[in-house]
Amino acid sequence: MKYSRVLGTGSHLPSRLMTNADLEAIVETTADWIQERTGIEQRYLVADGETCCDLAEAAARRALDAAGIQASDLDLILVATTTPDQVFPSTACLLQQRLDVHGCPAFDLQAVCTGFVYAMSVADKFIRTGAAKYALVVGSETISRILDWTDRTTCVLFGDGAGAVVLGAADEPGIISTHLHADGAYKDLLQVPGGHGNGHPEAAFMEMKGNEVFRIAVTTLGRIVDETLDANGLDKSDIDWLIPHQANIRIIQATARKLDIPMERVVVTVGEHGNTSSASIPLAFDQAVRDGRIRRGEMLLMEAFGGGFTWGSVLIRY
Ligand code: UT7
Repeated sequence: MKYSRVLGTGSHLPSRLMTNADLEAIVETTADWIQERTGIEQRYLVADGETCCDLAEAAARRALDAAGIQASDLDLILVATTTPDQVFPSTACLLQQRLDVHGCPAFDLQAVCTGFVYAMSVADKFIRTGAAKYALVVGSETISRILDWTDRTTCVLFGDGAGAVVLGAADEPGIISTHLHADGAYKDLLQVPGGHGNGHPEAAFMEMKGNEVFRIAVTTLGRIVDETLDANGLDKSDIDWLIPHQANIRIIQATARKLDIPMERVVVTVGEHGNTSSASIPLAFDQAVRDGRIRRGEMLLMEAFGGGFTWGSVLIRY
């Protein structure tokens, strides 16, 4: 039986820093409101001309370096993104060209904030079936470009960035299990209503019923934690690190309580990065690997919830 194992991680943030105080000049809000309700203190945004693929490339190159493999070794390139550079080609194909890789499958995966978890699951299946030996999995977002900068209920919450992981085939896990779900019945609670497909490309900005999303996110993430532990016969105490999607510190704290895991064992970047959608988990993962918190052999639980709704988890022996 083949498994997939994390060989290396990388991440990249754009250079334009926007603090909560900066937002006070843009919409009717206060730095304290944002900090108290979400835990966010600042976020990084792309500059004019900077693209989702630029962020993805920088994160991918760092992950390849950390993994000690060449881009030409890759058998699969997956980019989870809600904000692709173009309608097509996919950002994965644009990234493939930047990395000077030719021939391997490359595609984008759209599951909004759960995108990275979905992409890890797909890459894991490619490797387990022998269809790939090395896979690059990237979460990259320029979410700031789909925000309505007059809507204080959304524009204060998000940031841009990218994170990447290189997976390689191994005899031992690695990725132990992945759990994916979606329910389109909730499509109206968190959406960008417009698109080329429905003839309304002009309505390309995010809308969210934040309060309802919050309540459903907390209960759903609690359930995905139980599902992941039960599927593997594990106890809460077996988890060394929780690496959650970074939407709101209060959602993260609720999931940590459900797991009985102290906040010191939860990787939290929401204060520095805001919600970077599909980039948030790989950004947090890379930060905790590089600063030495996460060590080889430890058990990691990643979980995410986002538009769709979509939700899921990845359990990893690092
Ligand atoms: O990543 C994908 C999943 N997304 C999420 O998980 C986000 C989930 N939702 C949340 O994180 C929270 O619901 C928010 C942070 C979006 C909002 O926090 P809340 O505690 O649920 O606030 P609320 O929506 O109930 O609004 C409370 C008050 C309202 O005023 P009134 O009606 O009580 O007078 C809002 O109008 O806060 C007001 N408000 C603001 N005030 C200052 C909303 N946004 C702002 C703002 N600044 N930016």
